[in-house]
Amino acid sequence: MFYQPGKTDHGLPHNPFKALITPRPIGWISSVNPKGEANLAPFSYFNAVADTPPMIMYSSTGTKRDGSAKDTLRNIRATGEFIHHIVGRNMTDAMNISSGDYPNGEDEFAKAGLEKVPGELVAAPRVKTADAAMECRLWKIIDLPGENNHMVIGEVIGIHINESILVNGMVDPLTYEPMARLGYRDYSAVEERFSLSRPGQK
Ligand SMILES: Cc1cc2nc3c(=O)[nH]c(=O)nc-3n(C[C@H](O)[C@H](O)[C@H](O)COP(=O)(O)O)c2cc1C
Repeated sequence: MFYQPGKTDHGLPHNPFKALITPRPIGWISSVNPKGEANLAPFSYFNAVADTPPMIMYSSTGTKRDGSAKDTLRNIRATGEFIHHIVGRNMTDAMNISSGDYPNGEDEFAKAGLEKVPGELVAAPRVKTADAAMECRLWKIIDLPGENNHMVIGEVIGIHINESILVNGMVDPLTYEPMARLGYRDYSAVEERFSLSRPGQK
């Protein structure tokens, strides 16, 4: 089959686009509004985009049900700061609860029963029980084509790692089983690993 998004119909019961780009890592992003009220939400249009300095991005698409901007985007525009957390399998339910469409100022940490600790370098609070977290300073927000599509790019200025996920000094995903988004309502968790050497590598 072949279809042209926005021009021709795919004819399937659900849009296949996101199901074709999987697994997608989940950015679990905390922020604060100018009053200092905490916010937390997951985003799977998310990835690392550079090493030195380390940079990450996520995209905010659409709006809240009442038509207003999503809180994370609004807070990052206002404060220029956020924290990304990795979502291990033990955080699945909390991550899901934090994706609800709650009013601005309503604290998803409390909704999800998560303990928060202050950021070291940013005003946003951190999920205490997440196995790793990256404190970020906003670099740029790029408005993408279409309505309400915005790519947020941040520089990682501080990294927290729970040492229990280190094995021989290396981050070991099999200890925390990072969650990833598949298509539709489906998820995956990393349970298997294999290594490859690149051409010319010993
Ligand atoms: C696993 C998962 C991934 C999501 N990915 C995105 C995403 O990439 N972009 C987006 O705008 N919303 C995404 N959402 C929906 C947001 O989490 C949701 O709109 C949330 O209410 C936004 O919260 P906020 O208004 O506090 O920012 C995702 C939801 C889930 C459960």
